[in-house]
Amino acid sequence: MSRRELLEYLQDLAWRDVEEPAAAGTKRAAGAAAPDAAAGEDPLASTDLAAMGRALAPCRRCRLHQGRTQVVFGVGNPRARVVFVGEGPGADEDRTGEPFVGRAGQLLTAMLPSIGLKREDVYIANVVKCRPPGNRDPEQDEAAACLPFLKRQIELIDPAVIVCLGRVAARHLLGTTAPISSYRGRWTTWAGRDVLPTFHPAYLLRNPAAKRDSWADFKKLRARLMVDEDKG
Ligand code: URA
Repeated sequence: MSRRELLEYLQDLAWRDVEEPAAAGTKRAAGAAAPDAAAGEDPLASTDLAAMGRALAPCRRCRLHQGRTQVVFGVGNPRARVVFVGEGPGADEDRTGEPFVGRAGQLLTAMLPSIGLKREDVYIANVVKCRPPGNRDPEQDEAAACLPFLKRQIELIDPAVIVCLGRVAARHLLGTTAPISSYRGRWTTWAGRDVLPTFHPAYLLRNPAAKRDSWADFKKLRARLMVDEDKG
């Protein structure tokens, strides 16, 4: 890594370098696809994430299976209180089988401790589980084919909150094509659960000025989780 790359990386990690003083890994994806998964098993009938991941491994329900290395099922705590949803795997995720491990993922991982969370505490998944060619946005039919599995994952995890990362996740989860600036940071619901849409970390890498709003959103998430803790 060159000096310049190192500097850029450290700047990315300082994601809250926008006024506020600081407030309070790569393991195999939970339920990661086993190569010998029994074909024909219905992933939606699975009662745990690991079984569901195995059942989904040979999935060919949409054209994205053609270019993938593997299904990127999801990673994290199967009892997480927060599920983060991105759009789809990129090259690093396709290679490793784990969502959000590239540059954007490293930024997301670095953001979590600012609200008292670690990557292992949360669950991370995507709208589509196979890498779209050239990192294009997932098509409507691809997202529609994959969404039942995200929904089932979320049912099994039963989190308090879903964080929708970026406009593509919001388009498919919330059905909005409005500019993300008009709804980020505003609580809404999906499948009967509280959802907080916020910027995708890749957007924050391209637009560091947006980190200010992103930090405001993360504080809302922290406040929401603290309310639950007080109740519990
Ligand atoms: N971007 C996403 O939306 N998902 C990933 O898993 C990685 C990058």
